[in-house]
Amino acid sequence: MEQKLGMRNKYRKSTTLRCSAWSRCSLPVALWIMVGCLLLLLLYSLLPQWDSFSLETQLQVSKHLHELEQAEEEIIQMPPPRKRSPRAEKRKPKKETTIIDEFLDESSQLRHIFFPDIKTAVDPNKVNESFYYYPGRIWLDTEGNPIQAHGGGILYDELSRTYYWYGEYKDGPTYIANENGLARVDIIGVGCYSSKDLWAWKNEGIVLAAEETNETHDLHKSNVLERPKVLYNKKTGKYVMWMHIDNANYTKARVGVAISDYPNGPFYYLYSKNPHSFDSRDMTLFKDDDDVAYLIYSAVENSELHIGPLTEDYLDVTDTVKPILIGQHREAPALLKHESTYYMITSGCTGWAPNEALAHASESIMGPWETLGNPCIGGSKIFRETTFFSQGTFVLPLQGLAGYFILMADRWKPANLRDSRYVWLPLRVVGAADQPLELDFGFPRWSRLSIYWHKRWRLPYRWNG
Ligand SMILES: *[C@@H]1O[C@H](CO)[C@@H](O)[C@H](O)[C@H]1NC(C)=O
Ligand SMILES: *[C@@H]1O[C@H](CO)[C@@H](O)[C@H](O)[C@H]1NC(C)=O
Ligand SMILES: *[C@@H]1O[C@H](CO)[C@@H](O)[C@H](O)[C@H]1NC(C)=O
Repeated sequence: MEQKLGMRNKYRKSTTLRCSAWSRCSLPVALWIMVGCLLLLLLYSLLPQWDSFSLETQLQVSKHLHELEQAEEEIIQMPPPRKRSPRAEKRKPKKETTIIDEFLDESSQLRHIFFPDIKTAVDPNKVNESFYYYPGRIWLDTEGNPIQAHGGGILYDELSRTYYWYGEYKDGPTYIANENGLARVDIIGVGCYSSKDLWAWKNEGIVLAAEETNETHDLHKSNVLERPKVLYNKKTGKYVMWMHIDNANYTKARVGVAISDYPNGPFYYLYSKNPHSFDSRDMTLFKDDDDVAYLIYSAVENSELHIGPLTEDYLDVTDTVKPILIGQHREAPALLKHESTYYMITSGCTGWAPNEALAHASESIMGPWETLGNPCIGGSKIFRETTFFSQGTFVLPLQGLAGYFILMADRWKPANLRDSRYVWLPLRVVGAADQPLELDFGFPRWSRLSIYWHKRWRLPYRWNG
């Protein structure tokens, strides 16, 4: 009570300072008013993403933002157990089939849930469905062909104000190469698609092609090229691509580097190496606000991740490297930054089969990184435990919408890898970044970093980056 009274007194005091007439105002006060007005004008001019929006549009945006934060539920009915011959029953006692078995089983009755057929394809030429994402459906480019950009990433090219989506072009037959039993498609190359709105994608062709004849070349079709990522280097004006280079049995375990003058290629392959003399499999790049770029890769037989800055031209790693998440066996890293905190999404190592994603956070990109938990919400328990039957590959910040991101993930189809699907979902970082990380989580259902399941969703109305 006493404090309140004190406050009231303070207020009264200050009001007595008010000018009662212009003539009594001193020059400094008038100056301050002018400075204040100028500051307000300056502030107003610094809000370009809103000034062209009508009130109606703003309402639409906030309504859609709200929708992005909702998660849908999914109920999947397991099909009745299949009839088995008595002999088969005797040979191998019946093991309960899980939804993951059904997911991996080509002849499953649930196939259409995970891999809806071409009739439901997302088609940019069908205007009545404009801008809706349908995670898991076939996604057509502007020419009507399924997009081939798996394990991909997106570069926003500020010069052309265009998004470029790069990924593995896997439109070839799937086969089993050797005794490790992992399904594969020969290298065809890195596919590239361009878009202004992140929804209608134009095929820019294969920007880094396989080597058809030279068997000793890294890009020979019998090898492996995965998870290509591209950054623009302001200093050199070049587009630099990094990728996982391997042989068919995954014993080469290197990173490869390619370069281009244009975002839509062609890219010229430079070389591959074991970064910091380590084996390197799943990898990604991250460019920080200060334009320093980092390579993050699974190392030491996928048991830990390594992170280290690239050289200024982005064409090599430096000597600095830090092992993180040691012994945790994580792969498919994807990084994001929000209000000076770094976040990372990773998956477990289970080949093409889906598993549970984890979110990690750090105050410094070089660590220490702390594991937060599973960021997936909605769907159902099995959806959350399988990252919605997919594996992350990239996180795209939505410019102008602080704290909103798109998680890009792959729903792999090992029986026919070219028909693997894209799962794009809203990812949201909510909460102040400067709070101690351990304190404020209610994992696994709701985290500061959340990925929301949606069967169908779209970006806010008239969102244009
Ligand atoms: C979109 O239009 C097509 C025909 O042009 C129609 O078959 C389809 O049902 C429509 N979709 C929706 C969601 O209205
Ligand atoms: C085949 O590729 C290797 C490795 O890149 C290279 O050193 C060699 O010159 C190439 N051979 C031919 C005939 O192009
Ligand atoms: C893996 O493949 C390479 C050829 O690409 C071969 O030289 C090597 O012996 C193989 N390693 C294993 C462990 O199979």
